Amino acid sequence: MNVSDTVHYVFLAAAACFVIGLHLMNHPRTARRGNTLSAGAMTVAIAATVWLVADEGTISRTGWFVLASGGLVGAALGLYAAREVRMTAMPQLVSLFNAVGGGAAALIAVNDLLRIENAGARVSLPGALDIVIGAVTFSGSLVAAGKLQGLVSGAPVVFPGARSLNVLLPVSSVAGSVWLVLAPDSRTALYGLVAVALLFGVTLVLPIGGADMPVVIALLNAFTGSAVAMAGFVLNETALIVAGMLVSSSGGILTKLMADAMNRSIAGIMVGGFGTGDSAPAAAGSGAPARVRPVSADDVAVQLAYASKVVFVPGYGLAAAQAQHELGDLAKLLTDHGIDVSYAVHPVAGRMPGHMNVLLAEANVPYTQLKEMDEINPEFPQADVALVIGANDVTNPIARRPGNAISGMPILDVDKARSVVVIKRSMGHGYAGVDNELYTDPKTGMFFTDAKKGLSELKAAVTEFVG
Ligand code: TAP
Repeated sequence: MNVSDTVHYVFLAAAACFVIGLHLMNHPRTARRGNTLSAGAMTVAIAATVWLVADEGTISRTGWFVLASGGLVGAALGLYAAREVRMTAMPQLVSLFNAVGGGAAALIAVNDLLRIENAGARVSLPGALDIVIGAVTFSGSLVAAGKLQGLVSGAPVVFPGARSLNVLLPVSSVAGSVWLVLAPDSRTALYGLVAVALLFGVTLVLPIGGADMPVVIALLNAFTGSAVAMAGFVLNETALIVAGMLVSSSGGILTKLMADAMNRSIAGIMVGGFGTGDSAPAAAGSGAPARVRPVSADDVAVQLAYASKVVFVPGYGLAAAQAQHELGDLAKLLTDHGIDVSYAVHPVAGRMPGHMNVLLAEANVPYTQLKEMDEINPEFPQADVALVIGANDVTNPIARRPGNAISGMPILDVDKARSVVVIKRSMGHGYAGVDNELYTDPKTGMFFTDAKKGLSELKAAVTEFVG
């Protein structure tokens, strides 16, 4: 078997590992292994590519230098970003990775076209699609990351003629693709198509509010996968096609799940104009109706210490405060005291898919205590205390009624617990910008504080009670 055949078998094996890796990511217990397997397969595939290229001897000394330095700089930046970026900034990082993936895929098709100068009609539809999807993903992802990072306004940016532009640009992209397929030697068609697609990425994402950005990022992730798969067709590379389609389909499914869990349609999100993301906290208790019942750490500690069953409900505030370790410590204290403890995990709690799972895994919370929404909801009526930590929209009972921003969104039935305690800094709104009726429920006590500080105080107070 020659090197080329061997390398193609390696690629096939790597593609199989990606599928298995994705399957392992289905469960928190095996997710780490899935990640390692996929990353290992990618490393082997890259090494095999280098072997193939070396064997073919087609790359110059300068080419090797560019390849090596690009690989080193990219790997160093990726490693640094993955290790240093805060959990709450992860969506921006994913968006930047999407931009890089989409841009790289588009460049493959552009390079292919530039190399076949005057070589006749070799460009295919996948090549043109690769350029369009890759370029849209590149510029759109940069705008999305900018919005989340606060570099671009989080508010929907709409200017006169924006809607017409969003019809004109995709139509021009289709026309440009047809032109490029028919006239692959035309540089005007190539550069025009790249420019139109880049502009479309910007005008597509600008009108969407920061609040919807995580869904948009999942969608752009699906686009990246499609662009990579198209690049696979351009290069006639099966592994790239398989890997790209896996990213594309999983990104598409994730987008749909997130939109469903927020009770919004994907089309509605793409039309834009909803929410601007996080708002500054209101002053503690500001605007609070008289019915709100503030409680202290000692009040809550008594409730916890004498409870038989406690359900923790984490939300975005837990991530913002980075209070996962304090929560894990408090839960361990209660568990050691013989109290039945579980964590209610809503699919869109936080700001990115699996946000709460990742945070709680970081605090080494036992997986057996993590419960998905469908599993935990029937248990709330038996809970003596439901302790909500920085969660808001995902617990709001108004979602059960029509006519408001979160109508129809499935929620955690926290209000069915025997008593409820909410840790947050103020009566400020969550992501959807609506009042939460849970806070004015007579059985709810509001512990107004930062999540990290509040949980530490609770741990100290509970320790005093249980010895
Ligand atoms: P939110 O409804 O956004 O509420 C978070 C609450 O955390 C705020 O009301 C805030 O109140 C509190 N908070 C912030 N910093 C805090 C701190 N340091 N200490 C204590 N509390 C703090 O969060 P949620 O319940 O997790 O719901 C998630 C929302 O995001 C949903 O509307 C969902 O649709 C949306 N969303 C989620 C995703 C994904 S994939 N997870 C994607 C897009 C959109 P104070 O300011 O008063 O403290």
